[in-house]
Amino acid sequence: MNQSIILAKRPIGKPSLSDFKLVNEETPQIENGEILLKTSYISVDPYLRGRMSDAKSYIPPFQINQPISSGIIAEVVESKSEKFSKGDFVSGMLAWKEIQKSNGEGLMKVDPAKAPLSAYLGILGMTGLTAYLGLNEIGAPKKGESLVVSGAAGAVGSVVGQIGKIVGCRVIGIAGSDEKVEMLKSKFGFDDAINYNTTENMSKAIAAACPNGVDVYFDNVGGEISDGVLMNINKFARMVICGSISVYNETSMPVGPRVEPFLIKNSALMQGFIINNYAPKFGQAIAQLAIWLKEGKLTYTETVVEGFENTPQAFIDLFAGKNKGKMIVKI
Ligand SMILES: NC(=O)c1ccc[n+]([C@@H]2O[C@H](COP(=O)([O-])OP(=O)(O)OC[C@H]3O[C@@H](n4cnc5c(N)ncnc54)[C@H](OP(=O)(O)O)[C@@H]3O)[C@@H](O)[C@H]2O)c1
Repeated sequence: MNQSIILAKRPIGKPSLSDFKLVNEETPQIENGEILLKTSYISVDPYLRGRMSDAKSYIPPFQINQPISSGIIAEVVESKSEKFSKGDFVSGMLAWKEIQKSNGEGLMKVDPAKAPLSAYLGILGMTGLTAYLGLNEIGAPKKGESLVVSGAAGAVGSVVGQIGKIVGCRVIGIAGSDEKVEMLKSKFGFDDAINYNTTENMSKAIAAACPNGVDVYFDNVGGEISDGVLMNINKFARMVICGSISVYNETSMPVGPRVEPFLIKNSALMQGFIINNYAPKFGQAIAQLAIWLKEGKLTYTETVVEGFENTPQAFIDLFAGKNKGKMIVKI
């Protein structure tokens, strides 16, 4: 039998294991033009929370009693397609199933000889692209500027900070534990980092860490952390609004300080970022990330959870900050 994970009900507030269900189904048979895929790695991502509710968004919601899907690396175990051979590994948006068939549409071959397979879900995949394109296209960092990154110890944030250092910025990260703060400085080369869980006044902490103010803010979390950063922005600051994980589980939207006066008086830019809008730039961005990785200018870390059935828990754990770098499930 073949296991699949479906959305049993829409989470209210923080997701819990009862929102998911593990079901058994027949292993599919393939027809001409199709391939049979065995899942190797599953990416769990905070944005999947949005797809579990039925609110209108930039991407359609998951359906109840249907499998969840996300970025997956899978092995071709049988092929009746001219484009793929048995033994190939592919990356794409696939269902949370151990085995599934595909017509190959939207799948990209990945080479395990060039990078570890899981890296294609992280630094050489969607989160690496988000870091590179979000920072460059909206943040436009320049040498000597100060860059603040929230969610800094996660998949996107840890790469954003390192790219900021390559550009020549002073980089300050915000994360949820002293261990993560230490990792940002020692492993990822951040100039300074702040533990938001032990910081009473974020605005003051940012002012102390950025005596010349904030030129670029790469925001992965929103909420009160971002309110504190906003108080410290410089003239012509750029704010990349990439994620708001601190409010993803809220049942009513919290209200903070009004942002408009800060934007006006600083002639500042605040812009929402969605990776899908930058597809024509993916090739160039991945090529640059791969070069930096090879040159040792970029590094990455992963939290790898083992076992298909543990995928929902790995997803839930993102909201408790249990990951360092990219959260991945290994099958
Ligand atoms: N717009 C796009 O196209 C796009 C693409 C990819 C990702 N994103 C967004 O970017 C953000 C980062 O994604 P990722 O995949 O790199 O995830 P991630 O940062 O690897 O994992 C999530 C992290 O968020 C932090 N967090 C959880 N709850 C929080 C809270 N209440 N307040 C502050 N921090 C909290 C946790 O770290 P701590 O221990 O530090 O709390 C956790 O490790 C997410 O908001 C995601 O939705 C957007």
